[in-house]
Amino acid sequence: MEFKRHRRLRSSEGMRAMLRETQLSTDDFIYPIFFVEGEGIRQEVPSMPGVYHVSLDYLEAEMQDLVDHHIRSVMVFGVPNHKDEVGSSAYDHNGIVQRAIGMIKEKFPELLVIADTCLCQYTDHGHCGVIKDGDVLNDESLTLLAQTAVSQAQAGADMIAPSNMMDGFVAAIRKGLDEAGFEHISIMSYSVKYASAYYGPFRDAAHSSPQFGDRKTYQMDPANRLEALREAQSDVEEGADFLMVKPALAYLDVLRELKDRFPLPLVAYNVSGEYAMIKAAAQNGWIDEESVVLETLLGMKRAGADLIITYHAKDASRWLNKQR
Ligand code: PBG
Ligand code: ZN
Repeated sequence: MEFKRHRRLRSSEGMRAMLRETQLSTDDFIYPIFFVEGEGIRQEVPSMPGVYHVSLDYLEAEMQDLVDHHIRSVMVFGVPNHKDEVGSSAYDHNGIVQRAIGMIKEKFPELLVIADTCLCQYTDHGHCGVIKDGDVLNDESLTLLAQTAVSQAQAGADMIAPSNMMDGFVAAIRKGLDEAGFEHISIMSYSVKYASAYYGPFRDAAHSSPQFGDRKTYQMDPANRLEALREAQSDVEEGADFLMVKPALAYLDVLRELKDRFPLPLVAYNVSGEYAMIKAAAQNGWIDEESVVLETLLGMKRAGADLIITYHAKDASRWLNKQR
């Protein structure tokens, strides 16, 4: 009988290791972290077990823990006390994110600090831009976003990650950074960000749910593939240094398409709802957390991601480094 013997190449761990096409490594991970105002706060987010709100007096311990896990980069989110119509604490030089960035760079200069640049945690209406007559204004929002990015760069951020999905946000932020003398600061654009229900736990954590309506006029329709290519294309033209797809799991096809078409580093955001689902199932004993997490992250890399923003970063790093 004539047939192929594929099992020859799976016959031992040595053989499998030699032929493994995709590798997962701690260097692939970016760890997202939430900073809050106040003191003595290290509070677990109920829908995200293992993820905490921390006040700045815990910052050093948190960062040391990351360094001990061999993680090299963090994505910083702020949960401010003060919210207003125009999100002014987003671009306050003394804002929660600006102070957190300054402290990280002072104590851990080798850690790469990526600032999430958006307004929704900072606006009282919870939208990612300024509002007029119930509508999110595009160009007016760009001015504030560029101002936010510059204040984050001034605080010491190594990278700016704009997540607001206004048109022209990469161009506006690039121009703002360049004019302020930050030509060397890169932009990790949330290029392809879908209007997703998977952000639910994050919005609880960041207190950033829209107070009216939804984000569907600026975030993308989950049904669309060509629209993703257009969004990515314009970000490339506007000068993005990295492209991102968010969420990751339901959009692995989009990751692959972007990887095949654009020669830029590609980032997958393994979002809060994806994390919460695995945690919940694992806590119930329904799945094996370690195996499922590593398989999931590996799948994102196989789909084309070079980097993964993930709340699993510390656990995954520990598991990976134990395997060696
Ligand atoms: C803010 C922002 C969101 C996330 C990252 N930045 C939420 C949103 O757009 O509603 C989601 C992250 C996650 O779910 O883990 N623009
Ligand atoms: Zn936002």
